Amino acid sequence: MPEAIIRAAGIERCFPSRPLPLRVLKGADLSLRPQETVAIVGSSGSGKSTLLHVLGCLDRPDGGTLSIDGHDTARFGERELAAFRNRTIGFVFQFHYLLPEFTALENAAMPLLIAGLPRKRALAIAEQLLLEVGLAERLEHRPSELSGGEQQRVAIARALANSPSLILADEPTGNLDHASGELVADLLWRVNADRKVALVIVTHNHEIAARAGRVLELRDGRLSPRP
Ligand SMILES: Nc1ncnc2c1ncn2[C@@H]1O[C@H](COP(=O)(O)OP(=O)(O)OP(=O)(O)O)[C@@H](O)[C@H]1O
Ligand SMILES: [Mg+2]
Repeated sequence: MPEAIIRAAGIERCFPSRPLPLRVLKGADLSLRPQETVAIVGSSGSGKSTLLHVLGCLDRPDGGTLSIDGHDTARFGERELAAFRNRTIGFVFQFHYLLPEFTALENAAMPLLIAGLPRKRALAIAEQLLLEVGLAERLEHRPSELSGGEQQRVAIARALANSPSLILADEPTGNLDHASGELVADLLWRVNADRKVALVIVTHNHEIAARAGRVLELRDGRLSPRP
């Protein structure tokens, strides 16, 4: 097992803009050990989602180095990077991005179907995951027939489908009422403990941030420990 699941150093990301490029990340550093949990806080527009996209290999940094699970991500071509991302990282976003025409079961199975697993096997794994997130009674429901908290739990089941070593969650409770948000946070921390998955969570919720092993603040394009 590598000593770090994430080793990011001097991460830079800028977006084209006039008259000057918009420098959002200006040398962000983050090291995360396997199974560690970290919360990232920061004001709106500080670059938290941008950072999560880079850490999650959905976007490439303009500067700095990023190694995930011992692999230098700069060495991967686009297809290799996508395959690596799919088997290593699970994403949970503020909006669940479930596919409306598919059932909870099919949505949770989607990463496995995309990875080419036989349908029966993929659905069996997805069913087990939905059981794990407390949705055994909702397998055949479509997203529109689920509550916000239930939709988010399906999204977590989907994020777990490929047994990732790392979960990146971008305001996963941002759209939920307090009680549903607590349930989703409970679930993320249970997954962290039971499946030994590292967790990076971006949140505006201080109670949820306080559950993490460390709280870091993104400010002026860099991460620093929040006292
Ligand atoms: N693809 C893009 N092209 C141009 N500018 C972008 C792009 N993505 C983000 N930005 C800009 O980068 C800055 C940081 O955005 P980001 O979404 O990372 O902030 P955030 O910290 O996640 O904010 P919030 O808390 O509101 O979600 C913003 O000023 C945004 O306008
Ligand atoms: Mg954001």
